Amino acid sequence: VAEAIETMVVRGAPAIACAAAFGLAIDAHNASDLGVWRAYSQRFFQAIERMARTRPTAVNLFNALDRFGAVASSFKDDVPMANVAARIEGDAIALYDQDLAICKAIGEHGAALAFDKPVRVLTHCNTGSLATAGYGTALGIIRSLHAQKMLAHVYADETRPYLQGARLTAYELMSENIPVTLNVDSAAAYLMKNGEVDWVVVGADRVAANGDTANKIGTYSLAVNARHHGIPFYVAVPTSTFDTKIATGDQIHVEMRPSTEITHQFGKPVAPIGVNVVNPSFDVTPHDLISAIVTEKGVIYPPYKKSIAQLFSSQV
Ligand code: MRU
Repeated sequence: VAEAIETMVVRGAPAIACAAAFGLAIDAHNASDLGVWRAYSQRFFQAIERMARTRPTAVNLFNALDRFGAVASSFKDDVPMANVAARIEGDAIALYDQDLAICKAIGEHGAALAFDKPVRVLTHCNTGSLATAGYGTALGIIRSLHAQKMLAHVYADETRPYLQGARLTAYELMSENIPVTLNVDSAAAYLMKNGEVDWVVVGADRVAANGDTANKIGTYSLAVNARHHGIPFYVAVPTSTFDTKIATGDQIHVEMRPSTEITHQFGKPVAPIGVNVVNPSFDVTPHDLISAIVTEKGVIYPPYKKSIAQLFSSQV
């Protein structure tokens, strides 16, 4: 499972967390012959560490691993492995179910932002059922808008270099007959200038306490372009994507991906052999470019330092 996350067979912040949780459950089941928790505990914490080394930017993974670590720390030495495995599996299923419900709530809150006419939405990367337990975050808003007949059209950035927009978002939307047009990332400003875009809606991998938001590389330039054209820029996230321990986005670790994602396309070289490459997988959008953040608990607005603190102080 860790390898599947590293190689992006499973990707997308909430889906990574769910997959890691199921990976831990599989490991616990595989260890049933060890008899009791005492004989397995060290290996379980090693499995948590292994999962933590997969991808660094999305905080959902670390929030989930912390949760499983805390559960494991409460086990007594002589608990039978069958009970341990059942508990880990139950918690993994609960995380998955919770994420699905959260995405639907984000969808409803986000769709309520459209009140007068159907909107044309531009989105980036893939934030749908292939990035979450199901339904999606930014794509959840798009699904809800469509269900409420408040969606006029979707523009999907292809999302260089891994093409999550072309390979996943276009596929997801077409399979539900949601009207979508695929564009290269660098056409976004062109579309905005031509008046084709009413909203930009994206997901996120980590949101700092001041609202600075890490998301797929290219999101920052979309936000700059949206501001230039006076277009609302919305971020859709479950509260598990906030990292209130960090004050600003400067503290977010941006994952660097292999150079071959750029120098090669589908196994074929497209750049000179040996060229220097920089391949940051994410960028950080400064909070002042974000019009609103849509969560499962509702929509929050600037000033984010205050609204994010309020969001978490109201949590049970
Ligand atoms: O590198 P990826 O494909 O894991 O990046 C995914 C994104 O950047 C998504 O926008 C983000 O994880 C939100 S998914 C609901």
